[in-house]
Amino acid sequence: MSAYAQLLDAAIQDLEARKAGGERFVVVAPDTLNALAAPAPRGRRREEAEPAAQPRPVSAATRPAPAQAPIRPTTPVAIASAPLPAPPVSPADKPATFAALRERVLVCVKCPHLVTTRKSVVFGVGDINAPLMFVGEAPGADEDRQAEPFVGAAGQLLTKIITAMGQTRQTVYIANVLKCRPNQPPGETGNRKPSPDEMGACLPYLMEQIQLIQPRVIVALGGAAVEGLFAISDAHITRRRGQWMELRGTPVMPTFHPSYVLRAEANADKGRIIKRQVWEDMLQVMERLAMPINEKQRGFFR
Ligand code: URA
Repeated sequence: MSAYAQLLDAAIQDLEARKAGGERFVVVAPDTLNALAAPAPRGRRREEAEPAAQPRPVSAATRPAPAQAPIRPTTPVAIASAPLPAPPVSPADKPATFAALRERVLVCVKCPHLVTTRKSVVFGVGDINAPLMFVGEAPGADEDRQAEPFVGAAGQLLTKIITAMGQTRQTVYIANVLKCRPNQPPGETGNRKPSPDEMGACLPYLMEQIQLIQPRVIVALGGAAVEGLFAISDAHITRRRGQWMELRGTPVMPTFHPSYVLRAEANADKGRIIKRQVWEDMLQVMERLAMPINEKQRGFFR
């Protein structure tokens, strides 16, 4: 078998293993896409002139085990290990590339049922060079109206958390896995959790945002954000929070969603515990980013 056919086989096996492990997309740089679209090489040497190999069926015996790791509360979890490729643009071109991505996302029609109910596409907000990125689940009614993530009650709490960290909404980047508000049956209020299909359709946009921003740390807000980012079906956020994960080389801190914190506040004791846990997670983030932490910040909730 030629080296080309061997590489092709290895790539197919790798993709099938990722799919079996729950991954639903891979990030591919434009240059790689162009190379893939080019005809297979026809070399001068006999082995390179072989017809392209047929994809080998992967038997149950040879198929690698699904990549999804069991949750071990004290161990960092590396679910998708290949590092994110460097941004395919120079720093000078980044704003224009980011703006072009935004334009594409704003006219997205991948989920026709959301296109008809959305008021806006909520792309994201903040510094496109931020070392710290927050990723939520999906816009709610306020965000849909204002075309900005985290501006409702949960958003106000997130803004307080960001401020307590010594940051502002302008020094971090905030986005959601889903860019459109999940539709509700007529007459129903509240928020619906995005479906796996909706998150799978939208995730490539978030991955492009991450690839361009190249944050040093991502905070995943709530179980749905973890499920969307890692394309897994149950994040077990209560056990997972506070344990570093890794998304293609980028450290991810899973924590509770601000709206869960708000709901927990209905019970004073529970609310205090949940708030303290979220703050402990943020202290880990600040330490990882070598942000200054003063005594007051250390002592919140002590
Ligand atoms: N909840 C989210 O997950 N994202 C928002 O933008 C608002 C509320």
